[in-house]
Amino acid sequence: MVKHTATSVVTIERFIIEQERLHPEATGELSGILYDLALAAKMIANKVRSAGLADILGSAEQENVQGEVQQKLDVFANETIIKALDHGGRLCAMASEEEPDIIPIPEGFKCGKYVLLFDPLDGSSNIDVNVPVGTIFSVVRKITRGARGEMEDLLQPGRRQVAAGYVIYGSSTMLVYTTGQGAHGFTLDPSIGEFLLSHPDIKIPERGRYLSVNDSYENDWADPVKQLMRSYRGIGGVRKPLSVRYVGSLVADFHRNLLGGGVFCYPANRRSPNGKLRLLYEANPLAFVVEQAGGLATDGKQRIVDVNPTELHQRTPLFIGSRSEVEAASAMLAERPLTAAV
Ligand code: AHG
Ligand code: MN
Ligand code: MN
Repeated sequence: MVKHTATSVVTIERFIIEQERLHPEATGELSGILYDLALAAKMIANKVRSAGLADILGSAEQENVQGEVQQKLDVFANETIIKALDHGGRLCAMASEEEPDIIPIPEGFKCGKYVLLFDPLDGSSNIDVNVPVGTIFSVVRKITRGARGEMEDLLQPGRRQVAAGYVIYGSSTMLVYTTGQGAHGFTLDPSIGEFLLSHPDIKIPERGRYLSVNDSYENDWADPVKQLMRSYRGIGGVRKPLSVRYVGSLVADFHRNLLGGGVFCYPANRRSPNGKLRLLYEANPLAFVVEQAGGLATDGKQRIVDVNPTELHQRTPLFIGSRSEVEAASAMLAERPLTAAV
């Protein structure tokens, strides 16, 4: 990584260019995808900031003063990302949590050698109550031979990701990404509209302080999961208790644990035998980021990034965060059935 002094202002553009120079073989296509994502993030951030005014200015699905129908924020985020990335000639296909099928590159635009998978607005049920939401993204290389992207290009294990990251629309907007050379965070300076390097080479604390889990599902968890959660809480005296923090926006919970140390868990339960979170749009990209920061991510049986996806909207149990806590999850769950047999 290029070293910067404390006083140098490093925009995301400059950082991406400097990272690219470390790879003489790079064509700049991946950098282009990251710029486009940063642009989409700024547009979404702008919209999220005024979301609370929807009731005053006209709520979703009502006509606004210009006679346009206002879109729901997750639909807006989805379309913003597609429009920011479909024409650059760098992608051959996309997939979004909000779309049932592969999103093709429109006829007439050039196709490139990468594929983008994304969750346009994570935690969208929190919008109405002014709680942080996010965007999550993952980039893999095209593996099929034809000009256009196919399902096979989308269904690749997370270890093949070439870039991944997330944006958190919180008290400030931050973008955190990795291309496999550490995880780096940028904070949006709204006065100049630039993402500035604020958290170079993030390292997650080895031991966690926080436990993020929705324990209203406790009755539906398998016994080993119940046992694991009790041990995180310090019951039995084996370990120091973690403090419980659960926002209900994965990005927000993940981000807090990444910076402060902790583990986010969304186990399988009797009603959702594979948990809730999506392997391709949520688990894989955050797993790449956390591993680059020195942490771990597992479904309880194997590394998240080693899971071979079989369908686009596949769900997975997720235990992600500080090394010591995720190792405890693997130790407790590895030999047990993945789905919640209660
Ligand atoms: P999304 O808004 O993209 O559908 O994701 C919501 C997810 C995730 O952000 C969060 O961690 C989880 O749902 C919360 O689920 P529970 O309400 O079941 O705890
Ligand atoms: Mn989500
Ligand atoms: Mn979503």
